[in-house]
Amino acid sequence: MVIFGATGDLSKRKLLPALHRLKILRLLPEPFNIAGFATRPLTDESFRAYAASGIEEFSTYKPVDKAAVEGLLKNACFVSSGFDSLDGFHALSTKLSEMDASASGGAGTSRIFYLATPPAHFSVIIEMLGRSGLSKKREWEKTPPKIIIEKPFGRDLASARELNALISKYFTEDQVFRIDHYLGKDTVQNILFFRFANGIYEPIWNRRYVDHVQITVAEKGGVGDRGKFFEDTGTLRDMVQNHIMELLALVGMEPPINMDADKIKTKKIELLQSIRPVTDEYVKENLVRGQYTGGIGAPAPSGVGRKEKITPYKEEKYVSPSSKVETFVAMKLFIDNWRWSGVPFYIRTGKRLKKRSTEIAIHFKTVPHCLFTSLLKCYPEGNILILKIQPDEGISFCFNIKYPGTSNELDTVNMDFSYKKAYGVELPEAYERLLYDCMAGDSTLFPNIKNIEVSWDFITKILSAWGNEAPPMLPGYEPGSWGPKEADELIERDSRKWHNQ
Ligand code: BG6
Repeated sequence: MVIFGATGDLSKRKLLPALHRLKILRLLPEPFNIAGFATRPLTDESFRAYAASGIEEFSTYKPVDKAAVEGLLKNACFVSSGFDSLDGFHALSTKLSEMDASASGGAGTSRIFYLATPPAHFSVIIEMLGRSGLSKKREWEKTPPKIIIEKPFGRDLASARELNALISKYFTEDQVFRIDHYLGKDTVQNILFFRFANGIYEPIWNRRYVDHVQITVAEKGGVGDRGKFFEDTGTLRDMVQNHIMELLALVGMEPPINMDADKIKTKKIELLQSIRPVTDEYVKENLVRGQYTGGIGAPAPSGVGRKEKITPYKEEKYVSPSSKVETFVAMKLFIDNWRWSGVPFYIRTGKRLKKRSTEIAIHFKTVPHCLFTSLLKCYPEGNILILKIQPDEGISFCFNIKYPGTSNELDTVNMDFSYKKAYGVELPEAYERLLYDCMAGDSTLFPNIKNIEVSWDFITKILSAWGNEAPPMLPGYEPGSWGPKEADELIERDSRKWHNQ
């Protein structure tokens, strides 16, 4: 596996620890070797030390298995080069051939190129892989080399199409794996299992019984040292175009005829194509963006420890003091199809919010007639089914009961399923599953060209509405809050409120 951007954050925090875990589980082919490619002046040896320290620091499986790390990295090599240097790619090619020869006499090896760089480098790397001949299948290979491309895939519909066109100049579609790490999360894959392996939910999963749906992807952390990337990207491109659109597709799609990759992808795409397109006016009324200010963040969930002093987004490293980039987005959207006609979907995501929490809450309609009019709290709340993606992965169902005692009171309680309690294991990291699937050639969890383009089509209309807005409506929000008050107003206007607030 060749990792472009091997000295970057993603490689250190996610990819190398995921490979370490796959090695422990004996899920990597043998032999398996890593080649790092980046501009930093490392040698093979210093790259191995760097990679080992990344695994030590960021692996979520402790203690780190030293023998596995050593096995994983013993033949690792490094090419220090600019991404636009053909010479660098020729040097890579030579190193890979040497690796092939020592690994298996040159036969039977296959290659994966992982683009773990900032998106600005994607095009030039693809071009260089093509021009250096590295994208081509070698005659003994059973499968041609694969390429994994990180998100965001393009900046809008036009650039995503351009990138796709460039890729298809050198790679065929079955070589390409566009990654969205949310699809690698067990709880995200569980959405389809839960919906289609239980008889009782699917009949009520529609406009007749569902009042509305909320998708929340809240982060407690800020942009950290990714200010440069974020200034170029913003929350709509970073989180909504990919992660939230994929969650929406899974929760709203029709049942596929089976679990084949193509069948699932077709249904997801149909759902995304049914999102009602937005106008400038609609965006103004139904979409809120915001940017975090400074202040005191939320306390740790335990309530123990000091509250953190938070730097405003505008003062983060590499961020312009006059930045107009959003760190929060909330919106209401509709899916114009038979199943969801008239059901609002509210989505929200942001950094520096009150807590880390990703969940999908299906709010069911309340009872058609209330028997409890003489009670203090007389009208029962609608039931809510919550798919808890992270943390505390699981499922909750919220329903009404009689409060114990003589006073005939209603109460609302939760029935909880927790992955951790039920199985007593940590769920695997998303990248483990995705890297494994890519090696196995299974593209089910990777969005295809059409999926990406349909999603960009929707998002690009929002970007263009923002472009026509003067001045940009970008309220500040305090760290540790749930975003700007305008986001509350957005949902409260419809006599509803955000779940989990
Ligand atoms: C990434 C975004 O795709 O997802 C980050 O670029 C974000 O900005 C991250 O922090 C969130 O992922 P997770 O798995 O921690 O929810």
